Amino acid sequence: MEIITSPQAMLRHASQHRENKTRIALVPTMGALHEGHCSLITIAKEHADHIILSLFVNPLQFGANEDFETYPQTHTTDIAQAKTHGVDVIFMPNTHDLYPENHQTTVTVNTIENVLCGKSRPNHFSGVATIVAKLFQLTRPHVAVFGEKDYQQLVLIKRMVLDLHFPIEIKSGAIIRHDDGLAQSSRNTYLSTQERTIAPCIYQGLSAAQHQHQQGETDPHRLCTTVQQHLDKHPSIAIEYIEIRDAETLETVTALTKPAVLAVAIVLGKTRLIDNIVLK
Ligand code: PAF
Repeated sequence: MEIITSPQAMLRHASQHRENKTRIALVPTMGALHEGHCSLITIAKEHADHIILSLFVNPLQFGANEDFETYPQTHTTDIAQAKTHGVDVIFMPNTHDLYPENHQTTVTVNTIENVLCGKSRPNHFSGVATIVAKLFQLTRPHVAVFGEKDYQQLVLIKRMVLDLHFPIEIKSGAIIRHDDGLAQSSRNTYLSTQERTIAPCIYQGLSAAQHQHQQGETDPHRLCTTVQQHLDKHPSIAIEYIEIRDAETLETVTALTKPAVLAVAIVLGKTRLIDNIVLK
């Protein structure tokens, strides 16, 4: 496995593989790899011969009071895990190489970036779209794989790929959960022992709503109320949103007539957690 840090070297490497007709897959990450990331590598391997994993904590997608400075960095174990899972190249650029001094260009995906998480994280999705566009340019993948836990991010990337004509197939990986239902996330390490015992109630709420939907409930308000009742059992949880939106466009829905995503964001102690379930 090769580690590349320079954007120019990454582009040269990818172009060479393109010339040799190798099918390239990109798995973009910010490191602190867990089983969720590993499942994305497995999906990438099903669709390509050459797997590039990017590992970069992107400052542009963090707000002023967010956890950029404290985001978990576990490079040694990340590199070992990537190798074990058959990654061919880790792309680990420096911030000043990816964002040259006085950089001016960003990518915004209107509408999608202003709903759900975008309301409390105003520049987050523009930061995501910008870095992902850069990674696409430098790694020249045929396929890129993203996790469904960041559902809004997935919808946003698909829209960007369509709008900017990136010749890239976007694949997604299902949420990987711990045995108690909590979605795996690099940020789970921020939870105290007590908070960690409370956190699975998000999935319990989502599952209860899914069950209710399977029994025939199609009213978004009643389904969201079910989730809220589960979360309200824990006074330490501050609910940011519980919403049901169209699974493809993230537009609001008044009744569930086609697939919709039930998405939740909460703050537990100092940790912001998101989760979702697609109601089909
Ligand atoms: O999902 C993530 O880890 C990040 O948002 C991504 C896609 C790697 C962009 O920094």
